Amino acid sequence: MQSNMEKSETAYIAATAQIGEDCVIGKDVVIHHNVILYPGTKVGAGTEIFDGAVIGRPPKGAGNLVHEIEKTFIPVEIGESCVIGCNAVIYASNKIGDNVLIGDCASLREGCEIGNNVVFSRLCTTNHHVVIKNDAKILDATHITSRTIIEEEVFVGTGVNTTNDNRMTIRGSEVGEANVIVLKRGCKIGSGATLLPNVKIGEYAIVGAGSVVTKNVEEKSKVMGAPAIIKG
Ligand SMILES: CC(C)(COP(=O)(O)OP(=O)(O)OC[C@H]1O[C@@H](n2cnc3c(N)ncnc32)[C@H](O)[C@@H]1OP(=O)(O)O)[C@@H](O)C(=O)NCCC(=O)NCCS
Repeated sequence: MQSNMEKSETAYIAATAQIGEDCVIGKDVVIHHNVILYPGTKVGAGTEIFDGAVIGRPPKGAGNLVHEIEKTFIPVEIGESCVIGCNAVIYASNKIGDNVLIGDCASLREGCEIGNNVVFSRLCTTNHHVVIKNDAKILDATHITSRTIIEEEVFVGTGVNTTNDNRMTIRGSEVGEANVIVLKRGCKIGSGATLLPNVKIGEYAIVGAGSVVTKNVEEKSKVMGAPAIIKG
């Protein structure tokens, strides 16, 4: 454990946790066994981080990633009263709001922004630079592709897949700033649905379980099936 961290007197850190230099640990924080906080991580008051979670891991490819990784990162910031599950892996440059639940074995790639009161359940993953706004709920084993924007009060069921490379390229990719999935405020995505690259789901729209969404969905409409079409 490093001595130059800033730690509230009421915070508890298990003996096996590894706290990097210059971390800031707020009031009543609980950090369980084998947690690793990379240098500079900030943990807000009342947050509890369960066994084995890794916070601030820098991304590192093995020369074969299609997305060029930034050279510099900022330390992770976790808000107040959050719960971070066992073995969760939160990469560098993530900012997490207050009252957020990150489930066991969930993983957030670098550069994501997570709002307040978000649920990101067990085994969920994001790719890099995803935005998830306040009160969104994303259930177990869902994958959120890079640069996706998920607005307030969106519900995403279990095992949903979002995609961003239509041609499934091995070298290079067609993924760009413009190729972004957006889930607008209050929409609901049923379990097991797959969203193809670039689709926008309108406000308060509903996507049925198991659907394959190939094009934009109008606000307040209900689509289902493969390909998903309006029904009801
Ligand atoms: C899409 C959904 C909301 C529709 O509910 P609904 O409006 O009550 O629809 P109904 O059950 O009355 O079914 C209407 C029709 O749509 C069909 N249908 C319903 N859900 C469907 C789906 N997911 N995919 C394809 N067709 C579907 C029904 O077979 C029925 O067809 P019919 O008129 O030919 O008989 C619901 O079926 C659904 O998929 N909910 C998501 C559940 C979920 O994943 N929850 C996450 C919790 S973990």
